[in-house]
Amino acid sequence: MKFFIDTANLSEIREAYELGVLDGVTTNPSLMAKEGITGKAKIMAHYKAICDIVDGDVSAEVISTDFHGMIKEADELIEIDEKIVVKVPMIKDGVKAIKHLSDRGIKTNCTLVFSAGQALLAAKAGATYVSPFIGRLDDVSMDGMDLIEQIVTIYQNYGYTTEVLAASVRHSIHLLKCAELGADVVTCPLSVITSLLKHPLTDIGLEKFLSDYKKGNQ
Ligand code: E4P
Repeated sequence: MKFFIDTANLSEIREAYELGVLDGVTTNPSLMAKEGITGKAKIMAHYKAICDIVDGDVSAEVISTDFHGMIKEADELIEIDEKIVVKVPMIKDGVKAIKHLSDRGIKTNCTLVFSAGQALLAAKAGATYVSPFIGRLDDVSMDGMDLIEQIVTIYQNYGYTTEVLAASVRHSIHLLKCAELGADVVTCPLSVITSLLKHPLTDIGLEKFLSDYKKGNQ
């Protein structure tokens, strides 16, 4: 399973990279705004800074909602770095744009996916990744995991190569359930990745090993 970090914060990206388990980065306009990155030139430079840190795919989202606007933006984004994956929303023109870009061999991430039907469309259009938003489904009392299971089954049934990128992952149980269900990738905050480290018996066990060592080596 691949781990992507879902942030535009450079120090968090660096920390995740240094941990040695990072496979890529996803961003969105809200995450860029949260870091105070505004204006086209700064946004493009920030994507470059992210690409310079990581080995792996970096999703950069288009703002346009019409086909021609999305393609124009995609052409600018892919000039930044070869790691850029063009993130396109699941709307009618988005599906057309994904088809156009995938026919040209450009990697895409279909975002804002909330149903299996949308995921099927994304795969048929040739998306590299499909991003079902688990946490936001949970927020409206729907089970995000049911959606992951449905998409994984559908893609397996027909051999679609689109990777299931579980997004809006809020905690370690989300991540582990995605792993059980066979999602290809999870994207989440750094805190979700580091929460996998924690177990009280590890802490207790380590404390005991170290105190026993001290007793025998005074
Ligand atoms: C996916 O690529 C999105 O950036 C992200 O996972 C959205 O998550 P949120 O619901 O925590 O905003």
